[in-house]
Amino acid sequence: MGLVYSWLVAANRARILDGALLAKSLRERVRVEAESIAARGAPPFLRVILVGENAASMTYVASKTRAAQEAGCGAETIRLPDSIPPKRLLDEVRRANSDEAVDGLLVQLPLPAGHDPRAVADAVDPGKDVDGLHPENVGLLAQGRPRFVPCTAAGIVELLDANAVGIEGAEAVVLGRSEIVGKPVAALLTSRNATVTLCHSRTRNLPEVCRRADILIAAIGRAGFVTRGFVKEGAAVVDVGINRLDSLDAAPPNLRRSARVKETIASKGRILVGDVDFDDVSPAAGWITPVPGGVGPLTIAMLLANTVKAARLRR
Ligand code: GUN
Repeated sequence: MGLVYSWLVAANRARILDGALLAKSLRERVRVEAESIAARGAPPFLRVILVGENAASMTYVASKTRAAQEAGCGAETIRLPDSIPPKRLLDEVRRANSDEAVDGLLVQLPLPAGHDPRAVADAVDPGKDVDGLHPENVGLLAQGRPRFVPCTAAGIVELLDANAVGIEGAEAVVLGRSEIVGKPVAALLTSRNATVTLCHSRTRNLPEVCRRADILIAAIGRAGFVTRGFVKEGAAVVDVGINRLDSLDAAPPNLRRSARVKETIASKGRILVGDVDFDDVSPAAGWITPVPGGVGPLTIAMLLANTVKAARLRR
């Protein structure tokens, strides 16, 4: 466990699922593989397409290309203006598809209004689809023979495995049915013989359903939504949320009471919090991911793993 999290352990019972630590070892494994591919020709190459100026997307994309380069891969970002017509974006995707130098292609989401993310995913060469969003890759995952799995979903299962959280036979509840996290993680856990319930905004008796979970995965994008009443004693709680709060007023009442949230906003003017109320939940949970430092670093590590895989499959 990283020293950084010692303050969390002192105050809480749950063991920390340390994504940052695991991501480091996964990135090292990628670097070794990238070097062996490079020795036989060019290193694996990732192209990211970024449309517009969304500040969070710009930060994520910079982290992705930097991590790729640090792991011995080639990486570049093609930046397109907000105003680009949807047809021109699809042309840019096709240009990457037919570029022999590109192994992995990712179009950063969310796209500006007017673009159809589904049409973009459909247009990506399924052999270069390191995001795992092309219907061919979605179908392979649904059939239990995954090729490219969306990075966050793949990272969650790596994190559970690395910490020996048993999946087979476990009750898993996934909160959120997005194409990028909720649905693929439900499919992965199903293929690993968990009993999976996929919940969403219309699910009735949500806390009661969540309390069944041995493994609870929160991916709904609502700060501090999952509180103690959602969690069975000893459960593994995986928090996918990355919510930025710029003031105490922006926090829900339960987080406003947290000394840590108050102090961080007072000193830094902002805080990143997950979908789980960490302070409330961690005394009951068996395992829990911190935010930041839980699932986030694994998303990038799995993107690199997918890029190396694409290079291996293509060559
Ligand atoms: N935006 C936030 N997460 C992701 C991701 O995993 N892939 C893409 N393409 N966009 C994202």
